[in-house]
Amino acid sequence: MISGKRILLGVSGGIAAYKAVDVLRRLREQDAEVRVVMTRNATRFVSALTFSALSGMPVLTDEFAEGDRGSMGHIAVTDGLDLALVVPATANIIGKMAAGIADDALSTALMAADCPIIVAPAMNDRMYRNAVLQRNIAGLRSVGVRFVDPETGVLACGTKGQGRLAIPETILEAVVAVLSPKSLAGVNVLVTAGPTREPIDAVRFISNPSTGKMGYALAAAARDRGATVLLVSGPTQLPTPQGIDLISVTTAAQMDRAVKDHAGRCQVIIMAAAVSDFRPLGASDRKIKKNSALLQIQLEPTTDILQDLGEKKERRILVGFAAETDAPILSAREKLARKNLDLIIANDITVPGSGFAVDTNKAILIDREGSVDELPSMSKAELAGRIIDKIVELKKNQ
Ligand code: CTP
Repeated sequence: MISGKRILLGVSGGIAAYKAVDVLRRLREQDAEVRVVMTRNATRFVSALTFSALSGMPVLTDEFAEGDRGSMGHIAVTDGLDLALVVPATANIIGKMAAGIADDALSTALMAADCPIIVAPAMNDRMYRNAVLQRNIAGLRSVGVRFVDPETGVLACGTKGQGRLAIPETILEAVVAVLSPKSLAGVNVLVTAGPTREPIDAVRFISNPSTGKMGYALAAAARDRGATVLLVSGPTQLPTPQGIDLISVTTAAQMDRAVKDHAGRCQVIIMAAAVSDFRPLGASDRKIKKNSALLQIQLEPTTDILQDLGEKKERRILVGFAAETDAPILSAREKLARKNLDLIIANDITVPGSGFAVDTNKAILIDREGSVDELPSMSKAELAGRIIDKIVELKKNQ
């Protein structure tokens, strides 16, 4: 989403200015074309040379600097921009933006930028709570400026509170969200994620190592493409992605109910959850005592949610996952046909860095027409983007 995009990175004068270097590096890694504009105070924290070396472009620090062929530097730097990003944003630059003041390189460039703007504030917690600053933020939001809220934690001044710059991953997520084409605008997407837990007794259960990362990444990627997303999630440690409705469930039966309650209004359903295929028969609501050497647990099958959806298939895109240990393409193809799916994502979970509880995934996408796309190992966020692209393509040909 970022490759080839023209991004202005505005750096204002706070101690978090050094963190903007990491944001720049990550944008460049994804082949964005980045022009850095710094306030004079920002150059007291980090030298312009660091940013020019990493961006491969001159850094604008002076509103009177000339651009190419005698153009005005602060205007030229905003020509053809896809996005302006302010990291970190001090109370001062936010105040200037809100009041329409343009008196240095960054504030004049931001005034001239006719593209989406993302602001990532960082400052002392008392400054951040200041009523005037909050009024300025609200005012900027009302004219479409997006904010990546600061985090709560220990601040550079030694106090604890909200004001620490959001982590680079969160800032990059906001950038991707803004730059993604809104190819799923008006589409309702239901995503399931995480494991299910099937109780044995009051304190024990059967589950699997799913962390939910793949499903959460898919929900975020669908949201970024403009979809309205409902996430039905088993127990995970993950924060709910912004702008997504969440239904938390524990068992396969609860997931089945939640999915079927909402499936009717969804044009795309992605079953990324690792739903337990079996549950203990007659789970006890008391804790089982260890008074026998051998304990036998009988298991009964759970409802195959995806299979049910496939059987009563309406005009919608149905996507399943297949965690396989043997012949992934063959097994996944069979599953796609049996469950009447449009797309199946097969993982060979014997490959290191693929499948459960890791940040990367090596997947094979197989669609209903039989086309097989073997993808290299990539982050789950990147893979989510590729899967959503494929869903958009299948939807177009529906
Ligand atoms: N799934 C589901 N309901 C279940 C079990 C699985 O909806 N009770 C979904 C999963 O979310 C996944 C897909 O079905 O998208 C594949 O699940 P898997 O358990 O791998 O496939 P099975 O059909 O159970 O086949 P097998 O266990 O033989 O590999």
